[in-house]
Amino acid sequence: MSKFQAPKGVSEYFPPNSDQFEYVRDLLLTAAKLAGYSLIELPVFEDTEVFTRGVGESTDVVSKEMYTFEDRGGRSITLRPEGTAGVMRAVIEHNLNRGQLPVKLFYTGPFFRAERPQAGRYRQFYQVGIEAIGYNDPEIDVEVISVADTAFKALGLKQYKLNITSLGDTKSRDEHRKDLVKFIAGLKLDEATAERAKLNPLRLFDDKRDEIKNIMSKAPLLLDYLSSESKSHFEEVKRLLTDINIDYAINPRMVRGLDYYTGTTFEFDHALLGAQSGIGGGGRYDGLMASLGGSDVSGIGFGLGVDRILMACLAEQSLSPAINQIQLFVVPITESGKSVGFKLLSQLRAAGITCDMAYGDRGLKGGMKAADKSGARYCLVVGDDEISSGKCELKLMSSGEVISSSLAVSDLITRLGNSK
Ligand code: HAM
Repeated sequence: MSKFQAPKGVSEYFPPNSDQFEYVRDLLLTAAKLAGYSLIELPVFEDTEVFTRGVGESTDVVSKEMYTFEDRGGRSITLRPEGTAGVMRAVIEHNLNRGQLPVKLFYTGPFFRAERPQAGRYRQFYQVGIEAIGYNDPEIDVEVISVADTAFKALGLKQYKLNITSLGDTKSRDEHRKDLVKFIAGLKLDEATAERAKLNPLRLFDDKRDEIKNIMSKAPLLLDYLSSESKSHFEEVKRLLTDINIDYAINPRMVRGLDYYTGTTFEFDHALLGAQSGIGGGGRYDGLMASLGGSDVSGIGFGLGVDRILMACLAEQSLSPAINQIQLFVVPITESGKSVGFKLLSQLRAAGITCDMAYGDRGLKGGMKAADKSGARYCLVVGDDEISSGKCELKLMSSGEVISSSLAVSDLITRLGNSK
């Protein structure tokens, strides 16, 4: 065992499988870019208050899972447990909402939560997120959901399900809260649970204990308290989803793990991932910007868990085995073969052909072994004969089929380009 190991519970990606991680992340980003979202690149740490105020003190994320420390200047700093609060901080600080609305942003990178590690639950994990800020339109809600759905379909995923609900507007939530608080007051709760319920009574719907689940099955549901505006907004969201062929289930008991949500909220679950089945989630957060000191502008977004989406792709075997495949592997078998081969590589790469070669003096056998290991589509042996005749053979690694070619770069580019 090596002396040092990665900290407990982090996800790491290295070859050969890191290609798959990169592929999944990039397809998620492509879906966001296709819908007109632009990159926002932010620090992985923020002033702790951005999260305590933004995400909410009643949440596990803030109360139990933050990596918080004092920096050398005595400031309280927290590694970002999620992306939305930091994005809002940046939107307010840089006045991004003063121009054309909605402001449509995407981001990707590591996030940090001190959770109990298990399969699919990490202390450092990766998200792709988007946020659309500025309008409270059902069309934008559905656009956000559809970006995730498009990405999942592009990845070949089938066994996932979209759950949606609405947390309504302030009026709806106030009406519901009155009845929910009354309901909760009649229950015998331990001190910690009662405290959580005081901060946010909706949290009790999220309690994993059977006895609480049982009690809460009789609790009043927010969906039954929607104001007429919230109701018609939610009806329109459902109609638009159906209109663009996105299947959904309504889950009135869904509680997101973050406190800023209002209106439309949603989660995507994958059937083959066991306990950590949430591959992405999000929703509207109409009070967040104001609570962080900005103007009262609405927004909606999602965070997708890249680690779990990769696991889902592997479980469904939806990824092609040839992601980022090397097109040509050069096997030099003499000294001059080495220098001709080396020059070839730089010319082929300049033409956009992915290629590599056997370094070191490995000879034919060692070189072919390296070609095999590289997973390359073709290999090309270069020795003195090939150099003096100007002729060579491209061998298709999978079948052994041989294509004759001249050693001239232009010829090789044509042959390899055609076989992509
Ligand atoms: P979230 O539901 O807390 O939302 O996280 C989004 C996704 O990140 C989850 O569905 C899951 O796939 C992944 N994830 C969360 N925690 C872990 C973990 N410990 N290990 C592995 N994957 C994890 C948010 O973070 C919101 N900021 C989403 C959002 C954006 N809402 C509005 N805009």
